[in-house]
Amino acid sequence: MEMGLLDFARRVAIVTGGGRGMGRSHALMLASRGARIVVNDILSPTGENPAEDVAAEIRAAGGEAVPVNDSVVGGCDAIVQAAIDAFGQLDIIVSNAGVMSSETLADAAAENWHTVFDIHFRGTVEVCRAAWPHLVKSGSGRIVTTSSSGMLGNAGLTSYGSAKGGIFSFTRSLAIEGQDHGINANVILPSAKTRITDTIDDPAIAATLARHFQSDHVSALVTWLVHQDTAVTNEAFQVSGGRAGRVVMAAMPTVRVAESTPEIWAEKQGELMADGPLKPLLTTAAMFGDELADADPAIRHAMSGETGGLALKPTTGREG
Ligand SMILES: NC(=O)c1ccc[n+]([C@@H]2O[C@H](COP(=O)([O-])OP(=O)(O)OC[C@H]3O[C@@H](n4cnc5c(N)ncnc54)[C@H](O)[C@@H]3O)[C@@H](O)[C@H]2O)c1
Repeated sequence: MEMGLLDFARRVAIVTGGGRGMGRSHALMLASRGARIVVNDILSPTGENPAEDVAAEIRAAGGEAVPVNDSVVGGCDAIVQAAIDAFGQLDIIVSNAGVMSSETLADAAAENWHTVFDIHFRGTVEVCRAAWPHLVKSGSGRIVTTSSSGMLGNAGLTSYGSAKGGIFSFTRSLAIEGQDHGINANVILPSAKTRITDTIDDPAIAATLARHFQSDHVSALVTWLVHQDTAVTNEAFQVSGGRAGRVVMAAMPTVRVAESTPEIWAEKQGELMADGPLKPLLTTAAMFGDELADADPAIRHAMSGETGGLALKPTTGREG
């Protein structure tokens, strides 16, 4: 191995949707740094096996990889089992599989709408659920999930975008659940030239994507995030074309009313809608804690946690 490269010391990674686009690039980059890879992708209707192609490409370059063709919808136990069967351990999940859809809610058949949602959201949840006990055993499990700027809202993205918003929130809670197990989880909002963006027919946009938006730019951040020495967790990053930045939910200044009536809110519309300094909203506990403390500052003494928020205790089984 070249000097100075991040060394994955034969740790085992699953990359879902690893047969094409960004997933292929993540798989190749992780393998080039010594990770053993389960390349997951489905067979194409015309019989191509992109997972097998990428696994063969990794092996030809001297790496270790196996393909697995189960869908992330319904097949995540099999995908995780393939990692255990081939390599005996599992340390890293890169949840990346996805399909694009841009039908409006009015036009999309309900079944198609939910199929797209399930590939992204259910596929992400289930691969993490199946992997979890193995990541706990690893002691330094790493998860990166794939959201999108689509979560912020655009006509045609009620399914794709809401699944991506779900993935964002899912990852934030999962990261907190992973803290006691050494598991880090982060979510990316990438942009890259792949067959998804090849559907954009504006020539200027297509040329800019072709020149600047190679998948490797995204894989470099992902590869760093899932390395065992990287401590970053519970973050979201936009990443594309050689730049990256943290993405947070944020709130405009709140407006307090003397009396909660609809008429007073009608009067206050201007103030409520005005732009002002943003406050990042990083966790449920931090936001809820601020609400409580704003109503009664004395409650702060009952609060704990790094954020100064209220510690919310998870339940460990079914209640009642
Ligand atoms: N390209 C972009 O600019 C962009 C922007 C934001 C988010 N994303 C997200 O990045 C991820 C990768 O997309 P890409 O642009 O590389 O597209 P891509 O089409 O090149 O790759 C996605 C891969 O996922 C596979 N896949 C689809 N359904 C699957 C299933 N049920 N089980 C297993 N694999 C399945 C596909 O066969 C394909 O090989 C997706 O989640 C996508 O939504 C892409």
